[in-house]
Amino acid sequence: MKKLIWTLFLLSVSATVFAQSYFEDGLSADWHKERRAELRKLMPENSLAVFFNNPVKNRNNDVDYIYHPDTDFFYLTGFREPNAVLVVFSEMREVNAEMVDELIFVQNRDPRAEQWNGKRLGTEGVIEKLGIKGALLNSEFAEKSGIKLADFDKIFTFSLAENIEESSANSSLIAMVNDFKTATEYPDNLNETTAQIYNMIKNSDLETSERVAQMIQRYSQQYPEMADDPVVSSFMNAESPEKRMVVKEEMSEQKLDILSLEQMMNELRGIKTQEEIGLLRKAVKISAIGQVEVMKAAKVGMSEREIQGVHEFIYKRYGAEELGYPSIVGGGHNGCILHYIENDERDLSDRLLLMDLGAEWRGYTADVTRTIPINGKFNEEERAIYELVYQAQEAGIAIAKPGTTFQEIDAAGRKIINEGLAKLGIIESGESHMYFPHGTSHHLGLDVHDRGNREPLKEGMVFTIEPGIYIPEGSDCDPKWWGIAVRIEDDILITSTGNENLSGDAPRTVAAIEEMMTYPSVLEEWVLPEID
Ligand code: GLY
Ligand code: MN
Ligand code: MN
Repeated sequence: MKKLIWTLFLLSVSATVFAQSYFEDGLSADWHKERRAELRKLMPENSLAVFFNNPVKNRNNDVDYIYHPDTDFFYLTGFREPNAVLVVFSEMREVNAEMVDELIFVQNRDPRAEQWNGKRLGTEGVIEKLGIKGALLNSEFAEKSGIKLADFDKIFTFSLAENIEESSANSSLIAMVNDFKTATEYPDNLNETTAQIYNMIKNSDLETSERVAQMIQRYSQQYPEMADDPVVSSFMNAESPEKRMVVKEEMSEQKLDILSLEQMMNELRGIKTQEEIGLLRKAVKISAIGQVEVMKAAKVGMSEREIQGVHEFIYKRYGAEELGYPSIVGGGHNGCILHYIENDERDLSDRLLLMDLGAEWRGYTADVTRTIPINGKFNEEERAIYELVYQAQEAGIAIAKPGTTFQEIDAAGRKIINEGLAKLGIIESGESHMYFPHGTSHHLGLDVHDRGNREPLKEGMVFTIEPGIYIPEGSDCDPKWWGIAVRIEDDILITSTGNENLSGDAPRTVAAIEEMMTYPSVLEEWVLPEID
């Protein structure tokens, strides 16, 4: 009987795995406060910005995925609990008989829920630990958020997710989203697709508007409901470029603005502060050590999963809380699948192994790739391809400094790869091909593909340089090249005069990798019992 009662009780509580509410040893409350102040500087008078934290996502039955906060929300608050909304006002306002320029709505303290899923900060905790001026319970959102279209010249938010999973874990978030929609007369059809179209309209001008209208027309065949949107339909049906510009102007005058916050956050997050660089350094250093230790430990007979485990064990050993993205460990042709995360090949004999992994340290992620021969020696073809990718990466690193663009870095590497592939007889000279199918760079920070503008590089930007060559089985070239996949990816900080390779501790040259692979690994002494 006792057992039955216990089982029923267990069933009644869904196993949401919450992260701790905030990092004791991460960014300080003052740092996050400063970020909110910087956001305010970008906001026009009499405006407010509203951020909803991520919903909880169900894995299966009563088990949820480990919770990860929305990274804009985290950037501005340091808060890591679900069911929360942040409101930033451009100026002080009276809310609840108090003058505040920011409000956070959080879930209540609840001893029973906290016993199962971890501590909550509650309203007092967020004021005390996070230093946010006004804190209220999320049950008070409708009544006390002060959000009414009429009261503001602009209300900034992101397009709201339409499909938050219905569950008790998300119930107060869903209620707040619905209350917000009512208060702002949020149009039903405003979703991510509409936001993309709005963006196209926003970026159009007299010269391009005809082409943009045609593109939108094609989109609306795929998403017919878009034609119901008054802005989209007026733009599509306008008779002249001048009239389309009138629609664009009217769109920019709407009070509810789902585009501009994106730009403001890109601007803020694209340039890292010293504190962020410190955290990124740590995430990257741990990830580079993972690559070094795997180079020592790797040998024929190990599986992709086991190699993944060695990297991730090292991250945990240093105390990294998470991975920035699912680990990619692909032997041979698996390396040609850019987002290969199955990692379930057991037989890695005589193959190249592409390993793209990143530890997440106090919210900030690394993104480091090394490609090694599992048997310790590159063969002739592998070496030829590796050298090309290495030279392409070196060319990019050589020019990375304030003022350089991502396009220039990409072009420098692509030229070397294209000429090299032609010289090896893999492509005809000048032929377009799919052996380097991705871009070379992206910003890196709280997200692996982080926010940031694609503008000329500035001091304080952190981004990747990651050329690659992937030759899948059956490619139109000599079969001796088939199954070779090489990517080398490093995390680069732009300094006042040039750059620093934050992941440079992990060997990059053929000679350095082959040498590192001759060193012993402590794992050799770790013998586990045989099981059937
Ligand atoms: N790990 C994903 C990427 O390199 O962009
Ligand atoms: Mn990357
Ligand atoms: Mn990567």
